[in-house]
Amino acid sequence: MDQSAPFPDQPGSVRTVGILGAGRVGTAVARQALPGGYAVALGTAKPPEDIELIVSFTAPGAVAKTAEDVIAGADLVILAIPLSHYRDLARHDFGGRIVIDAMNYWPPVDGTMAEFEGEESSSEVVQRLLPDARIVRALNHIGYHELEENALPPGAAGRQALALAGDDPAARAAVAEFLDRLGYDPVDAGPLRAARFFGAGFPLFGTRLDRAEMTAALHALRPAVAAGA
Ligand SMILES: NC(=O)c1ccc[n+]([C@@H]2O[C@H](COP(=O)([O-])OP(=O)(O)OC[C@H]3O[C@@H](n4cnc5c(N)ncnc54)[C@H](OP(=O)(O)O)[C@@H]3O)[C@@H](O)[C@H]2O)c1
Repeated sequence: MDQSAPFPDQPGSVRTVGILGAGRVGTAVARQALPGGYAVALGTAKPPEDIELIVSFTAPGAVAKTAEDVIAGADLVILAIPLSHYRDLARHDFGGRIVIDAMNYWPPVDGTMAEFEGEESSSEVVQRLLPDARIVRALNHIGYHELEENALPPGAAGRQALALAGDDPAARAAVAEFLDRLGYDPVDAGPLRAARFFGAGFPLFGTRLDRAEMTAALHALRPAVAAGA
């Protein structure tokens, strides 16, 4: 093992990462995951040969696959498609996989969608659509360009925190380890209903906080989470 490397050679329970969406977020996550030791596949609604060239440039080392094969081969799936297309995901079999939902509701881009206009986070809606996925909301409150620029090894001063929330504790633990290997301090916010507090329009969204600051901010919101707000 290379002791100078920021991470051990072998990832933990998650070794293969499948990303749906090969745009800004999908390829940025791929570029961060590859040096973390993960095998990475990317897929869109198009045939893989249509994205092979762009993937070879934007995420060298990742492979292009069909969306079905991306999911089937992944220990961890990441949803990085426009939320306006989220209903397309229902055609896939997620088979109980851990799924990071990085999608945000952004009406100027997505159009107005009534199901996302309420108080709950968009991930709660996505979880209802995909009952065979263990949804964890994460990676949504950091810009795709910052994901690479702000990454730091574990223990580095000022390392940025990323929040996560989901209803499956084991899935949350796996995602926390993944975020750590991407270069961030994970902060577990608890159940999926807590995800609304790091969604668009909330102060945590797009704000660079370290672990202590993020933990304190989420702690302040905890009564609302506990009350099921
Ligand atoms: N941009 C950011 O900084 C940022 C940060 C955090 C979260 N997010 C969220 O992450 C998501 C992706 O954002 P982005 O900026 O990466 O978007 P993007 O650059 O437009 O990329 C979207 C990708 O999704 C693919 N796609 C579209 N419909 C699909 C489907 N039904 N199945 C599989 N793939 C599909 C697109 O393929 P085609 O090109 O073939 O359509 C494209 O590769 C959005 O929900 C956004 O709100 C964005």
